[in-house]
Amino acid sequence: MPTITVLPHPELAPAGAVFDAPQNMSICDALLLNKIDMEHACGQVGACSTCHVVVVQGFDTLNALGDNEEDMLDQAWGLQPQSRLSCQARVSGADLTVELPRYTLNHAKE
Ligand code: FES
Repeated sequence: MPTITVLPHPELAPAGAVFDAPQNMSICDALLLNKIDMEHACGQVGACSTCHVVVVQGFDTLNALGDNEEDMLDQAWGLQPQSRLSCQARVSGADLTVELPRYTLNHAKE
């Protein structure tokens, strides 16, 4: 099973985290399953940007980025070339290292 390494985040994972995730699971589900309280305001349907993560290792092994995901990512705080919506990015056979952005833009809350 691929291993996901989560870099430390002050609120969501102060010490970082390392866990295995089954192939084809979304990164968002894997984070939630491992008690990392990722925001997922739209219910993981790719219609917000609150589940934004930066995949610093293994980005190229993920499923392709869709047009809709690309549009939503444009609204994400701290967009990087290796940004993905974690609910749309699925674990392949490769290990990943994921950075959780410091902020999210939750238009439902604002
Ligand atoms: Fe809304 Fe992922 S939870 S796009």
